[in-house]
Amino acid sequence: MPTLAAMLKLVSIQANIAILGTGNMGEAIMTGLLDSEHKIQISVTTRSINSANKIGLVSQNLEGFLQIASLEAHPDANIEAVKDADIVILAVKPIALIALAKEIAPHLKKDALVISVAAGTSTHSLSLALPGMRIIRAMPNTPAKIGKGVTGISAGARATDADIQLAKELFESIGAVAVIDESQLDLLSAVSGSGPAYFYLFVERFTDAAIAAGLEPEAARTLVEETFIGSAALLDHENEAPAELRRAVTSPKGTTEQAIAVFEEADLTTLIRSAMRAAVARAKELNQG
Ligand SMILES: NC(=O)c1ccc[n+]([C@@H]2O[C@H](COP(=O)([O-])OP(=O)(O)OC[C@H]3O[C@@H](n4cnc5c(N)ncnc54)[C@H](OP(=O)(O)O)[C@@H]3O)[C@@H](O)[C@H]2O)c1
Repeated sequence: MPTLAAMLKLVSIQANIAILGTGNMGEAIMTGLLDSEHKIQISVTTRSINSANKIGLVSQNLEGFLQIASLEAHPDANIEAVKDADIVILAVKPIALIALAKEIAPHLKKDALVISVAAGTSTHSLSLALPGMRIIRAMPNTPAKIGKGVTGISAGARATDADIQLAKELFESIGAVAVIDESQLDLLSAVSGSGPAYFYLFVERFTDAAIAAGLEPEAARTLVEETFIGSAALLDHENEAPAELRRAVTSPKGTTEQAIAVFEEADLTTLIRSAMRAAVARAKELNQG
C-alpha cells in the first residue's frame, strides 16, 4: 500500500502562481514548475523589458500557461500578477523585498500563500509588510536551474502544515527539499545556498594549480572538472559515505595520502567553519536591515 507521502506526490497541484522577480532563481523555479506535472498558470514579472524578453526566449510555446510582464512596460505588473494568485513567490534581491511586499499587500488574495526565497529576511520582518498573510521562506540553490537543487523551507508563524506540504511539493520540482526550523535557515543558506560557490572556488583553484604545475589550460580544465563531476556522480550512485569513497582512492603510503595530509595540516575543517560563520553573520546583518 502506498504511503501517505507517496499518495500526496501523485496529486498534482492546481494553482495560479505569481513569481515576482524572475532572475537567476525566479527563472529556475519557473522552469522547474513548468516542467513539472503540476497544472499551473504562472505570471512572472521583472523590472526591465530586457529581462522579460530573455524569459520569453527561454520559454517559447507556453502561451496560455505563462504570462510575462515587466514593470518598465507595465508599472502595475506585480499587482496584476498577484491579484488572482493562490501562491506568490517573491524572488527579488533582498534589498527590494520589503518595498515589493508593501506594494502588493493590498492586492493579494486573502488566502494566498506567500513564499519568499530572499536571503536574510525573516518571515517575521516580512509579515510586518504583509499583515495577516501566511508566509513561508524557501532557500534554494543554483543547481535548481537543472532540477538538481536543494531547497530548505521554513514556516512563518501563520503557515500551516498543509502550506509546508504544498511548498515542499512545489520546490521538489527543482530538486530535493529539507523542511527546517527558521532559526536554522541562515545556517542552511551558508551550507547549501552558498555551497555551490565554495565548490566552484575549489574547482577554480584546483585548475589554477594544475596549470601552474605544467598542464595545458584546456587539459587542466577537463581533468579537474570531469574529476569533480565524476566523483559527485559516484557519490550519488554508490550508497557509501564520502569517507569510504575517499579511502578507496587513498592507499596507505601512496600519493593521495600525502596530498590529503597537506590539506589536513592546513586545517581545512577550521577554514570551512570560519567561512560558514562569515556567511551566517552576513545573513544576520541583512536580516537587521
Ligand atoms: N542566486 C542564488 O543562488 C540564490 C539562492 C537562494 C536564494 N536566492 C535569493 O533569490 C533572490 C533573487 O536572487 P537572484 O540571484 O535570482 O537575483 P537576480 O538574478 O538579480 O534577479 C532579480 C530579479 O528581480 C527583478 N526585479 C527587481 N526589482 C523588481 C520588482 N520591484 N518587481 C519585480 N521584479 C523585480 C529583476 O528584474 P531585472 O533583471 O529587470 O532587474 C530580476 O528579474 C534573492 O533574494 C536571493 O537572496 C538566490
